[in-house]
Amino acid sequence: MNILITGSSGQIGTNLGLRLLERGDSILGIDKRHNPWTTELPTKIVDMTTDCGSRILELITGYDIQLIVHLAAHAKVFELVREPSRALENVTMTFRAAEAARLAGIPIIFASSREVYGDIHRHITNESCADFVVAESPYSASKIAGEAFIYSYAQCYSTPYIVFRFSNVYGRYDNDIDRMERVTPLFIHRISQGEPIVIFGKEKTLDFTYVDDCVQGILLGIEKLLSGEVKNQTFNLAYGQGNSLVDLANLIGEALGIDPNISFKPTQAGEVTRYIADISLARNLLGYNPATPLSEGIRKCIEWGKAYKRPDIPIN
Ligand SMILES: NC(=O)c1ccc[n+]([C@@H]2O[C@H](COP(=O)([O-])OP(=O)(O)OC[C@H]3O[C@@H](n4cnc5c(N)ncnc54)[C@H](O)[C@@H]3O)[C@@H](O)[C@H]2O)c1
Repeated sequence: MNILITGSSGQIGTNLGLRLLERGDSILGIDKRHNPWTTELPTKIVDMTTDCGSRILELITGYDIQLIVHLAAHAKVFELVREPSRALENVTMTFRAAEAARLAGIPIIFASSREVYGDIHRHITNESCADFVVAESPYSASKIAGEAFIYSYAQCYSTPYIVFRFSNVYGRYDNDIDRMERVTPLFIHRISQGEPIVIFGKEKTLDFTYVDDCVQGILLGIEKLLSGEVKNQTFNLAYGQGNSLVDLANLIGEALGIDPNISFKPTQAGEVTRYIADISLARNLLGYNPATPLSEGIRKCIEWGKAYKRPDIPIN
């Protein structure tokens, strides 16, 4: 298969791209920056907010692409609260990806987020109860608008899609905390250095997804969408269990043999404080079966971080 991955220099894109190559597929990555982790992923530098859509279409035609996995985005909720114009850029990128899929006549997988559910304190959230009137942040709004574009393209132009709503993906290729502070690598970094950590929201409970489980779900989506077995569906893709940030810090402390020094502050604006995914639809229609509980994922993550050596490749 020939797959185009937008945002291929990011965490999920890097893991997905390497996995596809490993199993013998061809990929083309597009991103606005070089991949900081590996030179193995063929990458075209394209800024999807400014480069015109015809550039993406040219690449699709030139590389005989059969499906787009659209991951490119500004993916940090709190940054978009500070700079909401970047949320609008997310919408532009999704529009460009959907347009390219329409013009090329190929299916698209869109990376959405649990943020579309807002902070509604549901213990179990299934796909049918996204409540778009409670968009929690500009990032949530960008994912809601992105999903709406994808649905409208299926409706008006018969562009087949799968939408995945991811949740706190962690694991390999996520420790670039100088670019983007994600809670798991940030806590690992600080606890391992003996530095204190701050938890914004003592009760905050989230569904942490080990990256291999996330990639497993996307691979199943690619296969089933290309075969026509599944199309025009929206899935929660997570582990399906809640853990508090205190649990996360304690598991990291346990794996490192260090007692974490934790202090608490109130939740920040725009943040979701409770989310546990109902993943039964993905289990039933895709055969998705996440295999890595947080305790095991954290151990793998820490082992990977210790073994990882950053290669000497350009970063921009
Ligand atoms: N990782 C998670 O926990 C999580 C959770 C929910 C949703 N998502 C969504 O999944 C997708 C992938 O997430 P990730 O964790 O790999 O994020 P990431 O930030 O690691 O990767 C996103 C990539 O998009 C690229 N990008 C940003 N603006 C661009 C532009 N104008 N043109 C081209 N490329 C651009 C970035 O350079 C980056 O490499 C995103 O859409 C994100 O919103 C991720």
